[in-house]
Amino acid sequence: MSIAIENMTKSFGGTSVLRGIDLTVETGELVALLGPSGSGKTTLLKIIAGLEWPNSGGLNVNGQDWLGLAAQDRRIGFVFQHYALFPHMSVRDNIAFGLTVRPRAERPGKSVIAAKVEELLHFLQIDHLGDRYPAQLSGGQRQRVALGRALAIQPTVLLLDEPFGALDAAVRRDLRAWLRRVHEETGSTTIFVTHDQEEAFELADRVVVMGEGRIEQIGNADQIHDHPASPFVARFMGATIELPIMLSAGRAEAVGLDASRLPRRALPDGPATLFIRPADLTPVSDPSGRWQVSRCASNGAILRLELTDGAQTIPVDLPRRAPEAKGLERGVHVTLRPEAAAIFSGPRQMQTQAQTTEFARKEKSL
Ligand SMILES: Nc1ncnc2c1ncn2[C@@H]1O[C@H](COP(=O)(O)OP(=O)(O)O)[C@@H](O)[C@H]1O
Ligand SMILES: [Mg+2]
Repeated sequence: MSIAIENMTKSFGGTSVLRGIDLTVETGELVALLGPSGSGKTTLLKIIAGLEWPNSGGLNVNGQDWLGLAAQDRRIGFVFQHYALFPHMSVRDNIAFGLTVRPRAERPGKSVIAAKVEELLHFLQIDHLGDRYPAQLSGGQRQRVALGRALAIQPTVLLLDEPFGALDAAVRRDLRAWLRRVHEETGSTTIFVTHDQEEAFELADRVVVMGEGRIEQIGNADQIHDHPASPFVARFMGATIELPIMLSAGRAEAVGLDASRLPRRALPDGPATLFIRPADLTPVSDPSGRWQVSRCASNGAILRLELTDGAQTIPVDLPRRAPEAKGLERGVHVTLRPEAAAIFSGPRQMQTQAQTTEFARKEKSL
């Protein structure tokens, strides 16, 4: 079931929550919506599910206009972060629920439902839990049951809203691999919402980065990691160091900066900002360097430094055993050599979203 969302907007009491969303999800695709809290992810899912209506825009599923369809006619499978399984029903009955409440004419017979539930229990690797009640399950098991319940109705579209958000890291990783297999075998068209990058990139082939009601970028892990489309995405992807530079013939220039490892950019000459991840910055010892090590701490594997030029303090991470780490201690003067960085035109305080998507569109690496 392909989903086409067109120029969709939504506001709550004058506050814009979705500001023109265009997104197509192909049949059988698993797309992740990735963004910080408040970026509009849940609102978008609710609109697809028919639990919320947009102010404007289109929603077509396999060519059918879904905005004219009531929620119950869309046949959506929905799993929330805190999915309330019915506490008084066994796992079997919870999974069967969506089928047992169908209108009589569409309702499968009892034995068909029972067989379907057994099949799902097996498929989801929860055979042994069928007779339990939700209170007797771990968080991870509950979410497996919740997904079973969503899949039982053979949904046209599967919507998962931070389904693993309340679970601890190890369980999340297990469930991620499990969900990926489930998805490949069911081939359902799935939208997965998360604020966790690792989860999004590991699960989905295509990740949609959302910020403040807009789609900031669509791509795979490498594209988004290496070529963030806006300062927002760069920051969200961990580029927390922002240095003012001047661009000259596509080269970054600043006192105390060695930009020799950065490719030239097709950006206009003038002030710009360099966005760097702490792990992508090498401090090179240089007695006349503008920056100075002000703190130095090791966790055994990684050396975390703080560098200062008197006005700004920046963090740097490097492997403790790397040759570059030798001799770096408090008081040492260094030059900054970024190994990779994103560059956006305009001085730092001008890095607003609307403006920078514009710059990003113009930028192409030479
Ligand atoms: N029913 C509502 N009434 C008013 N504001 C809402 C409502 N639902 C969501 N919002 C607001 O819309 C914004 C986006 O929310 P949401 O879609 O839940 O974001 P996300 O899922 O990315 O965290 C938030 O600022 C939130 O407070
Ligand atoms: Mg949400």
